Amino acid sequence: MKKILITGGAGFIGSHVVRRFVNKYPEYQIYNLDALTYAGNLENIKDIQKHSNYNFVKGDIVDEVFINELFSIHNFDGVLHLAAESHVDRSIEDPLAFVKTNVIGTMNLLNAAKNQWKNNFEGKRFYHISTDEVYGSLGAEGLFTETTPYAPNSPYSASKASSDHFVRAYGETYGLPYVLTNCSNNYGSYHFPEKLIPLFINNIINNKPLPVYGDGNYTRDWLFVEDHAIAIDLVFHEGKNQETYNIGGFNEWKNINLVTLLCEIMDKKLGRDTGTSQKLITYVKDRPGHDLRYAIDASKINKELGWKPSVTFEEGLEKTISWYLNNEEWLKNVTSGSYKDYYKKQYS
Ligand code: NAD
Ligand code: DAU
Repeated sequence: MKKILITGGAGFIGSHVVRRFVNKYPEYQIYNLDALTYAGNLENIKDIQKHSNYNFVKGDIVDEVFINELFSIHNFDGVLHLAAESHVDRSIEDPLAFVKTNVIGTMNLLNAAKNQWKNNFEGKRFYHISTDEVYGSLGAEGLFTETTPYAPNSPYSASKASSDHFVRAYGETYGLPYVLTNCSNNYGSYHFPEKLIPLFINNIINNKPLPVYGDGNYTRDWLFVEDHAIAIDLVFHEGKNQETYNIGGFNEWKNINLVTLLCEIMDKKLGRDTGTSQKLITYVKDRPGHDLRYAIDASKINKELGWKPSVTFEEGLEKTISWYLNNEEWLKNVTSGSYKDYYKKQYS
């Protein structure tokens, strides 16, 4: 029996990872550690909460004493670290919150793992989940590879870059066995509606403006979240220690083209006249320091581990939109804030 710690498992990507691990690996005990910030929602994983190999721990990775105690009680065999402050716009408003969780929180986990494992690293692994934003911005050409120099532009990406460097440094200095992945923009179910795709789906449903930043000619490389979870599973089990892997969708879209497609699909699904949702598009003030383009070269993970996205963007977007339309209750609970009552009902 292996004890695996997954941090941030009540968030968007973390909930998909926790679900996959709990269902696929009954031989593991999964510990989901989450502080349940505004982004954490236990409704995201309510389908697995009664499984015998699932355990929820409410706690803050910034709390060093708590993290050390947790590791000494459980002596985890592996850590998958996803907990983070994840929204670029919020990082512009409150950078320190990002340093606390993304840098100090990661340091606390690294220290706890190093001290608990006491140089006996056999069978142990620390997996740090990171972002392509650490590489900064591309121009019109080229792709991010694993050797692209770090050049983060937002407080969010600077905090993630810093945590990546600490992970690598713990590997070099103390021999901590780690794997690290840098992934492109995810989309799918349980995505908090502050991010582009779920925000715009929610606004279209409610006939609210769609705020496109700047001229809308910014490019992102979109990956279906369940394909990210498959990649994470693969890297955790088959990736090489002290290696970095880029994960991406081979799927670049200019924001304005993506929003136009979203509007077309939503009009059809909602039975509205073609062009109705497009009228909601409103160009607004640009995000400061807005990165022009992200695009991932995911050939290393493809060649070494055989991973590639399993769904096309059209399929993934269709599934995603259908999910939000079939789960309006989830959206309502999140936008009204009442999802916070779920923890109280289940755990207190
Ligand atoms: P999210 O904001 O949806 O979820 C983050 C989770 O972490 C929440 O459940 C939250 O409660 C928890 N958390 C936050 N601060 C915490 C703390 N101090 N202690 C314990 N738990 C805390 O984020 P996400 O979009 O699912 O991203 C997960 C990870 O993947 C992050 O590390 C992010 O940088 C990375 N990532 C995200 C994307 C993306 O497109 N969303 C792409 C690449 C990488
Ligand atoms: O690339 C990976 C990153 O993708 C992750 O590390 C981050 O955690 C995740 O939030 C995401 O960052 P982005 O800033 O790319 O995602 P966001 O959904 O906030 O924005 C996507 C694009 O859409 C970006 O160019 C900004 C633009 N945008 C966003 C919002 C919320 C708008 O034009 N209007 C909006 O209202």
